[in-house]
Amino acid sequence: MTLRAKLFLSFTLVIFVCLLLAGAGFLWILQHYQFQARAARIAELSRPVAFQVAALERQGQSPATIMDLIREDADEIGIRVLILDLNGKVMADTGREFEGRQLDLNSATRSAGIVWVEAWGHTFAVVPTVSMRPFRGITSVVAVGTPNSSLRNGWLALLPSLSLAGLGALAVSAGISWLLARSIARPLAELTQAATRMAAGDFDQTVPVRGTRETIQLAQAFNQMSQEVSRSYRTLKNFLADVSHELRTPLTSVKGFAQALTEQAVTSPAEVAEVAQIILDEADRMDRLVSDLLFLSRLEANQVPFNPEPVDLTELARTCLRRFEREAAGAVRFEFAADGPAQAMVDPTRTEQVLTNLLKNAVQHTPEGGTIRVTVAAGDYQQRSGVWVRVFNSGSFIPESDRDKIFQRFYHRNHYGLGLGLAITREIVQAQGGIIQVNSDPGTGTEFAIWHPAPDRLAVDGAKPKLLARRT
Ligand SMILES: Nc1ncnc2c1ncn2[C@@H]1O[C@H](COP(=O)(O)OP(=O)(O)OP(=O)(O)O)[C@@H](O)[C@H]1O
Ligand SMILES: [Mg+2]
Repeated sequence: MTLRAKLFLSFTLVIFVCLLLAGAGFLWILQHYQFQARAARIAELSRPVAFQVAALERQGQSPATIMDLIREDADEIGIRVLILDLNGKVMADTGREFEGRQLDLNSATRSAGIVWVEAWGHTFAVVPTVSMRPFRGITSVVAVGTPNSSLRNGWLALLPSLSLAGLGALAVSAGISWLLARSIARPLAELTQAATRMAAGDFDQTVPVRGTRETIQLAQAFNQMSQEVSRSYRTLKNFLADVSHELRTPLTSVKGFAQALTEQAVTSPAEVAEVAQIILDEADRMDRLVSDLLFLSRLEANQVPFNPEPVDLTELARTCLRRFEREAAGAVRFEFAADGPAQAMVDPTRTEQVLTNLLKNAVQHTPEGGTIRVTVAAGDYQQRSGVWVRVFNSGSFIPESDRDKIFQRFYHRNHYGLGLGLAITREIVQAQGGIIQVNSDPGTGTEFAIWHPAPDRLAVDGAKPKLLARRT
């Protein structure tokens, strides 16, 4: 059974039961009210009738004649009139049927100042015909009544129209239930369709966000999920395209040179050695590409362990710089500036990797005779204390439009680079709670600046109060 059908049936059932209860209650009240109203009417009529009978009796009319006189009126207004003697024997009856029978006046009950007697399926209001002349006293008794059925069953006349109204109400509310059930079930149906399309490989799905709070949340969560899935699918596709593109160039070159060797197109030992070197270089490049890529994906998947500890970045930067200084062997000038030790909370091995990447780029982009300058200084970022390390090199420029792109994987503007260094660098810096920025000026040069938070004094020193621990 569908959700919509189930909701519809439940709504309709509840409405039906409610209508039934309300109808029954209404009929009960109606019956009670009608009974009261009719009894009151009979009670009201009983006195004038008794008075009239008494008046006719005084004129010397017999009960039978009196009956003949009032029968027509009584029938017309729907009441039954009996004239009884003082023992309760029926002397005359507008319906004639009860004449001669005995009405048990001892079973009389009193209510609202009227004496009531029930007999022969009727309810009678019994009133003595008090004579005008007191000394004659009560001569007879008049009973004005109506059949019990007409007293109690007045509501039956209403039943057909009431049922019709009930059916109408049920039909209308069933219609509304149907619409309601549909509006509740529709978001789910849409979600199911979208999920089915996603399962079929069409990941770019958005469902309308509407309905109840729960369905809104569900739709939002679904949309987020489908966005994330389609984003990672796109990333994966781009990644594969990039990798195959990046591998194709060295592979083609390796294949070409290897072919030259096998076809003995190069023969002189010097040429062979040169070709072999090229093949080796290209294989190196592919090796580096694959290992860098693997490292980057592990970084992005948070699978690279970081062991942060308080590290003096002045010391770390100076060591790195010295290594490069030795390698560069005087082609460029190296400068170092620092105020003193500057502690940051970082993994020393990873941070060394970051500085190496930045210095490698700097060396590659500095023209001969240029300058590479590393500066270390304590400084804030967004009101948090930490350490800035700046790597500046003269003579290179990155246009504004490229300053975001250089951090993307495979973005490189020179033929020897893989375009992975800065992507890895940014991942490492950010994974340690740091930031990386780039500034470039065609007149002076390019500067990469990284910032890392200072060690939390509480964590390092233990028991110091918080206020003192912040920024010293
Ligand atoms: N100091 C710099 N001056 C000018 N341009 C730079 C500098 N550092 C990086 N770039 C530009 O940013 C690009 C991306 O740098 P990145 O380090 O990511 O890649 P790469 O150096 O080309 O290759 P890889 O580092 O993977 O061997 C470089 O190709 C270069 O165009
Ligand atoms: Mg690089």
